[in-house]
Amino acid sequence: MLRKHSPGAKVVSGKMNGAIYGRTGSSVSKQRRRRLVMSFEMVRLDRASSEPLHQQLYRQIREELESGSFDSSASRVPSSRVLAATLGISRPTVNHAFSKLLAEGYLQVRKRSGIFVADHLPATFLKAVRSATIARTEHSPRVARRVTRMTDFRSGRQLDVGIGGPPSVTFVAGLPAVDEFPIAVWERLREQVLAKKGAHLLRYASSRGDIELRKAIAAYLCDFRGANCHPEQIVVVSGMQQAMLACALALINEGEVAWIEDPVFLQARNVLAFVGAKIIPRPIDREGLVIGKCSRQNSPRLILVTPSHQFPLGVTMSLRRRKALIDFAESRDGYILEDDYDSEFRFDGPPLPCLQGLDNTGRVIYTGTMSKILYPSLRLGFMVAPPQLVDTLVKVRAVMDQHSPAIDQATLARFITEGFFLSHVKRIRELYAQRRVFFIEQFQKWLGDYFDLEVTPAGLHFIAWLRRGEDFPLFMRAREQTGIWPRPLSFFCIKAQLDPAFVFGFAAWSQAQIEQSLAKLASAVKQVKQRGAGNGSSFQTHPFSPATSSYWPSTS
Ligand SMILES: Cc1ncc(COP(=O)(O)O)c(C=O)c1O
Repeated sequence: MLRKHSPGAKVVSGKMNGAIYGRTGSSVSKQRRRRLVMSFEMVRLDRASSEPLHQQLYRQIREELESGSFDSSASRVPSSRVLAATLGISRPTVNHAFSKLLAEGYLQVRKRSGIFVADHLPATFLKAVRSATIARTEHSPRVARRVTRMTDFRSGRQLDVGIGGPPSVTFVAGLPAVDEFPIAVWERLREQVLAKKGAHLLRYASSRGDIELRKAIAAYLCDFRGANCHPEQIVVVSGMQQAMLACALALINEGEVAWIEDPVFLQARNVLAFVGAKIIPRPIDREGLVIGKCSRQNSPRLILVTPSHQFPLGVTMSLRRRKALIDFAESRDGYILEDDYDSEFRFDGPPLPCLQGLDNTGRVIYTGTMSKILYPSLRLGFMVAPPQLVDTLVKVRAVMDQHSPAIDQATLARFITEGFFLSHVKRIRELYAQRRVFFIEQFQKWLGDYFDLEVTPAGLHFIAWLRRGEDFPLFMRAREQTGIWPRPLSFFCIKAQLDPAFVFGFAAWSQAQIEQSLAKLASAVKQVKQRGAGNGSSFQTHPFSPATSSYWPSTS
């Protein structure tokens, strides 16, 4: 305990050699209090500890001051000479501890009076006082239905994809080669925009997004994605997932129908479940999402599609189906959300134009992301809304988080307008093309006996169809053993009963990593097999895929 003593009071302890002892209290006059000197009886220094003595002293005084168990005003601390003598340590050690406490604002120097406890401790003005320990009771939380509706059974580390430790090869789909991102260029542009715009970038920014960025995105989409849009239609968002949520919140009332592809990007499904949509999974055939028959009262308010490269099957939606889908949405007063997550990565020619460019009825909301082209933690994406929906979507977005970070938006605008964006896309496309060919070769070498690798002309992942359903559990075990995590295709399915397969991402890893990891997976499978863990699969094998065959009946 830290105590304060006054001259003339009874000496409680002889430890403070020559120090003056006493209690401070509100009744003590100001003049008298000024002369009070604190004793540091609680200090216990451990010479055997690896923590330096000055640090021990600093920490213990700080803890005592932070405990708030005394009136801190006008409390003088003993001189370094006295305290050093009392504790049997050197004066520089005491001075070292004091100087840290002074620098952090726990102590203050008063001219010709000495060192005092600061009038306002940092702990007082910065930190809420912790109440006495409260015994916590465990209970299962009563969460809203919108949360329990999400059919996401992952939890902890599995759920939090970014929590993982050091980077390793997982073959999880959708990860780009972040180590190829030109960090130095980005940093230089960031410094430049900050130097030019300064504090302006630190204020609240537009919920629509930085105007320079919106112009740059609109120009890129019109020039390269075959879109038909104006900067006023662009809303910058924190990733495509936020675009999905904003659209779903804006356009679907609880219980209204939304269509989704099956199999599907899991978070798209979660978004729809979260807003209380009645989710109707639609099968995929060679031409894309199957429209089929649908009663008027079950008309979808929103249809989520990945027409350029269906996730995860890789089908490209045919022109015929695109037109049919837009006509269908128009006839049912619905909207289509076009998820164009990776269309820059087409390896058999230029990317296909987007669905939005075909739409002259204002039914398509185009969404894009920087997650695959640049890097996912940037959390920048955009929507191109039909003009009549822009204000509604901005309103919803503003409710969520007001806007995306202004500095990153301004930096990205410069990155695009100064040509770095296109040269980066060109460079990584070439890199991915090489990795893709290498992956195919190595996959045949190491896992070709187990799988038929489906090679579609676009995207950053492959579907590998198991030749024998009974091998499925072998690979599930091998995944656990190696930490190499290609996802089973069934992970993405709602009702679709597809053949056993795994989805392998390839873009994020070097050729050496690809080779080593495929070899490791193959060896783990062999070991599991030798131990006889391959029994018990209930899968049947139908080695056909919608991307390359007429597995689904074409009903549109
Ligand atoms: C098919 C698909 N759509 C959308 C997204 C979301 O991208 P974002 O990081 O911009 O939220 C992803 C991310 O992996 C994806 O795979």
